[in-house]
Amino acid sequence: MYKILKKEELNPTVTMMDIYAPFVAKKAEPGQFIILRVDENGERIPLTIAGYDREKGSVKIIFQIVGATTKKLNMKNEGEYIEDFAGPLGVATHTDGLKKVCIVGGGVGCAIALPIAQKLKENGCEVTSIIGFRTKDLLILEDEFNSASEKLYVMTDDGSYGREGNVCVPLNEMFDAGEKFDMVITIGPLIMMKFVVEATKKTGIPCTVSMNPIMIDGTGMCGGCRLTLIEDGKRVTKFACVDGPDFNGYEVDFDEAMARGGMYREFERHAYEETCN
Ligand code: FES
Repeated sequence: MYKILKKEELNPTVTMMDIYAPFVAKKAEPGQFIILRVDENGERIPLTIAGYDREKGSVKIIFQIVGATTKKLNMKNEGEYIEDFAGPLGVATHTDGLKKVCIVGGGVGCAIALPIAQKLKENGCEVTSIIGFRTKDLLILEDEFNSASEKLYVMTDDGSYGREGNVCVPLNEMFDAGEKFDMVITIGPLIMMKFVVEATKKTGIPCTVSMNPIMIDGTGMCGGCRLTLIEDGKRVTKFACVDGPDFNGYEVDFDEAMARGGMYREFERHAYEETCN
């Protein structure tokens, strides 16, 4: 059993928790994820590691309340326990040797992007961050990104905070001004990452995306997290849980990933209604 050391609401639909999991904290790196079960009959859900404290033995998770399991998880309070917390899983984000990076996060994806920005900064890398949200009420982690970045752009779709528009607006402005980066790393909704990849493509700057497909076992056995890359014109199947979650954005078949991501939407809606009613 894994104790909830701290719980904090970041906005009405996003919660942060510190979980006591010393073995996970010891090995965790930015970009990796855990799989948890809230109780013994619960489904397994993957959540990307949003931070860790090796001394305290804690791992930070940030989740959006979107389905039955995240709703149940959000009902737990500080001092209570969750059943399983397995990890760290997946390949850590490549940060070595990067001197100048642009991080582009969208919505709750910013929780995954933050530890990467922090690690890059620790390594002496110059970080420019762009974080985007639908509206001001959904804004998270602005102060943390400010500390981890040389430059920070905050965007909202409706203009209620920061600048109005999507994350590609400042990205394109920087590219048009001739700004160069060693890499662009983007994490957020699939459609946002697809457009960030499109925008970056014209510059030839490498673009890493963090994929978050349906996962079950998280160990490469079930095939649930498969996605298609197009490598040298050939379609190649990869598993996000063991080959990722990070991939070369230029190779990902986003249209297929979006179609697969919506496969269980109806089922998830029923499960959510059963849990909440
Ligand atoms: Fe089962 Fe990746 S989650 S193969």
